[in-house]
Amino acid sequence: MPATLTGHATLRGEHLTRTYGDGDKRRAALRDVSLDLRPGQLALLMGPSGSGKSTLLAVLSGLLEPDTGRVLAEDEGEVKDVWAMTGKEREDFRLRTTGFVFQGYNLFPALTARQQLEIVLKWGGYAGGGEARRRADEMLDRLGLAANRHRKPAHLSGGEKQRVAIGRALVKDPSFVFADEPTSALDWENGQRVMELLRDAAHERRASILVVSHDHRLLPYVDVYYHLEDGHLEERPRG
Ligand SMILES: Nc1ncnc2c1ncn2[C@@H]1O[C@H](COP(=O)(O)OP(=O)(O)OP(=O)(O)O)[C@@H](O)[C@H]1O
Ligand SMILES: [Mg+2]
Repeated sequence: MPATLTGHATLRGEHLTRTYGDGDKRRAALRDVSLDLRPGQLALLMGPSGSGKSTLLAVLSGLLEPDTGRVLAEDEGEVKDVWAMTGKEREDFRLRTTGFVFQGYNLFPALTARQQLEIVLKWGGYAGGGEARRRADEMLDRLGLAANRHRKPAHLSGGEKQRVAIGRALVKDPSFVFADEPTSALDWENGQRVMELLRDAAHERRASILVVSHDHRLLPYVDVYYHLEDGHLEERPRG
């Protein structure tokens, strides 16, 4: 396998297909989808409900195995086939390289906002103690959550939980970020704040970012725009 992906990609999906169910209930969620994520690029993925957006994010990020096709990622100067790794290798790879914002947030109920971010830094071996706390607080501050840092999810609003989930994905400065509708519960002001954070992570920290959204107002923030419909992907002009 080549040591770098061509076309300046850092993550590449090749001919990905994925179906759910068996027999009569079989449904194709992805039909031959290929795309490149590039460092320093913020990409937007749109498409109707049920078109396969969450499925594509899960396949690209190493959470859901495709039926056919490959996901190649550059990591530590090598090209790796994400779905040829062992489960343990893939878990380590994800922990080290990938931030994921789930559509349903997936926060830990027992942890405060600050602890949700600190634990990512500790588990990944990025930072501990005072340094983890400082980085967690800085990220919460950027998300407008400084006053909420001691609250657990049950005492946060939907939009506050969503911003904690975004902070958790970004706090370790990951190479790859996948965000599934990260602004769906936010007012426009906070939505813009989140898009600016994602844009900074791409443009200043060279992350490759793929964001799913239904909101056309996000188009001016992104570098590239993909449309997924009925399991087929196409790149579209932003204008
Ligand atoms: N676990 C599952 N079992 C069976 N079918 C599923 C499963 N997950 C998704 N699907 C089906 O696969 C298709 C794609 O689903 P997916 O969640 O990827 O769509 P989506 O574009 O993210 O939709 P939304 O905008 O509503 O979040 C849909 O038809 C959905 O019903
Ligand atoms: Mg979805």
